[in-house]
Amino acid sequence: MTAPVRNVWWDRLRGARSARGARPEPDRAAAGFAFGQGWARESESESEREPTAIAEPPRPGRLAAHFEANAEGPGIWKWRHYFEAYERHLAKFVGRSPRVVEIGVYSGGSLEMWKQYFGTGCEIIGVDIEEACRAYAGPSVEIVIGDQADPAFWAGFVERFDALDVVIDDGGHLPEQQIATLEALLPRLRDGGVYICEDVTGVENEFQDYCDGLARNLNAEEWISESPATVKPSGFQTQVHSIHRYPFLVAIERTPEPVAELIAPRHGTEWQPFFDGP
Ligand SMILES: C[S@@+](CC[C@H](N)C(=O)[O-])C[C@H]1O[C@@H](n2cnc3c(N)ncnc32)[C@H](O)[C@@H]1O
Repeated sequence: MTAPVRNVWWDRLRGARSARGARPEPDRAAAGFAFGQGWARESESESEREPTAIAEPPRPGRLAAHFEANAEGPGIWKWRHYFEAYERHLAKFVGRSPRVVEIGVYSGGSLEMWKQYFGTGCEIIGVDIEEACRAYAGPSVEIVIGDQADPAFWAGFVERFDALDVVIDDGGHLPEQQIATLEALLPRLRDGGVYICEDVTGVENEFQDYCDGLARNLNAEEWISESPATVKPSGFQTQVHSIHRYPFLVAIERTPEPVAELIAPRHGTEWQPFFDGP
């Protein structure tokens, strides 16, 4: 009988882990950026892209339909491609009376859009630095005036409005404003809550860098068992389910309930000898 070949994968993984501290060489972030830069626009590409069996153009949802129909009255100003992402992350709250915060009221139309989308019982809180935005308060819509870059403003805000379901940051769009807002409100989301930050523009955007660092926490690994492979989740992994990136938009989902362990059991009875990693 041939002795099983010891696979080096597991040892390499552990070696890489223990060597951590110094940034890996070569710079993988730079390599990933360069790879993305190399993609041709479809119109410039020589090869025809093959659709998969399930490829179909996205169907406009209710939010997109509301936006397109909003030809008169209080204005809404959104990038069109946001609507598909909104529906993907926010549809679960429709009809569930969510508490929704939008930073950036401007001309009031988006508050009305959220109110109609989430339906009866929802609570919409619009935050803006401009006093004039108080004009958009009404049934189910509250307006709070303040500077989203100011942690003291948020400290007072969360005393009044805790346990949020949805946050949409469409305010001043400066990284320091976006970071102050995220740090104040992401921890205040309920289980399953969704945090969206809009208008993260530019490949050297600092809020993008912040999210790169934040997302690293999803890969923390405090091993408590090799068989079955089991990791004790960090506080972040316990409470943050995922971080999603779209053009100019970041969506962060809180876990539906606190995660107790991250585990990779083996299911089955037949195993090849050439791989014994976890
Ligand atoms: C892009 S507009 C919001 C658009 C609106 N949400 C919509 O969909 O139509 C940005 C708004 O953010 C507000 N704003 C700018 N800086 C702010 C700050 N530091 N704190 C709070 N609001 C701010 C502006 O007054 C403006 O009304």
